[in-house]
Amino acid sequence: MNPVLLTGATGFIGQRLQKMFLAEGVPVLAVVRPASTHRDALLSGTEYLLADLSDTPLLEPAVSTADAVIYCAGSVRGRSLEEFEPANVTGIRSVVDAMNRAAPDTPLLLISSLAASRPHVSDYANSKFLGEQEVVQHARFPWTVFRPPAVYGPGDREMLPILKLARKGLVTPAGPAAQRLSLIHVDDVAAAAGAWLKSWPECVSQVYTLDDGHAGGYDWHEIAATVSGGNYRRLNIPGWLIHGMGYINLAVSRLLGYSPMLTPGKARELTQADWVCNNTALNKATGWSPQITLEKGVLDLFAEAGSPQRN
Ligand SMILES: NC(=O)c1ccc[n+]([C@@H]2O[C@H](COP(=O)([O-])OP(=O)(O)OC[C@H]3O[C@@H](n4cnc5c(N)ncnc54)[C@H](OP(=O)(O)O)[C@@H]3O)[C@@H](O)[C@H]2O)c1
Repeated sequence: MNPVLLTGATGFIGQRLQKMFLAEGVPVLAVVRPASTHRDALLSGTEYLLADLSDTPLLEPAVSTADAVIYCAGSVRGRSLEEFEPANVTGIRSVVDAMNRAAPDTPLLLISSLAASRPHVSDYANSKFLGEQEVVQHARFPWTVFRPPAVYGPGDREMLPILKLARKGLVTPAGPAAQRLSLIHVDDVAAAAGAWLKSWPECVSQVYTLDDGHAGGYDWHEIAATVSGGNYRRLNIPGWLIHGMGYINLAVSRLLGYSPMLTPGKARELTQADWVCNNTALNKATGWSPQITLEKGVLDLFAEAGSPQRN
């Protein structure tokens, strides 16, 4: 069996993809950028190639020997579209170019985001949409796109602070009172990718959402009650405050030269009325269905506090 070529293998989702494929006996070839400081996130058994995503001469022979390519690299922090582009747009363009030339029969799975469905909301959302377009418009090989909503689980850095606070009995929603969010555990995303690998011919040229099967997503009461065990206080963050903090954070980050999480774009993402999706079409195509409820996922998450995490 030839390997699955995986970009973003050192990240939160990529690590769980490695773990799932290796457990299933599928060899993994990770493409890791030479500048990565997370090479220790490669699991024992994962082969790797040091290459920038723009390095098509190195990518071409690698994609030509893979049974499938999964593009899971991505930037989730940035101050402008340009900062999101290398991982979310131009890296995808290079991989598509390399596959068009060297692997025209090999399937690609792009891990995008539900955010790509609303490119006007933020630079991140726009970059995810533009990245999908690189595939949709230019790929001459079989492709599939996954659009997960918020993903949580071991190794996550974005949702974890919110879940930790909720565990202690405090939720601080920034969106409208009736905001609804779909969620999915990272191991269900990985299992869905595993199902795709087995049944990708049923998924060609399709864009799929996927969630944990909780119809209509969660409101903050449901999230707080599940994560805290029922005893919690709710402190709504006013919209003006979250948007104001986004602008202040952006200005400070420009002065100090770091990539902030909270930007005006992120504030707009956080204050959407909903980010809701379902997994009906993906389930029909692959037979995959999510196995991890929020209740089980958070129990495991807090029990697994000692498991390896990306810094
Ligand atoms: N986490 C979520 O809730 C969520 C939800 C929906 C969609 N997604 C999407 O899922 C994908 C993975 O997200 P994640 O949460 O796993 O992110 P993550 O933990 O930040 O990992 C990002 C991965 O991408 C790699 N990467 C970043 N910039 C790169 C570049 N310029 N060149 C090459 N590799 C680069 C990182 O490599 P280094 O080790 O070198 O930094 C790392 O392996 C992203 O596309 C994200 O948009 C995530």
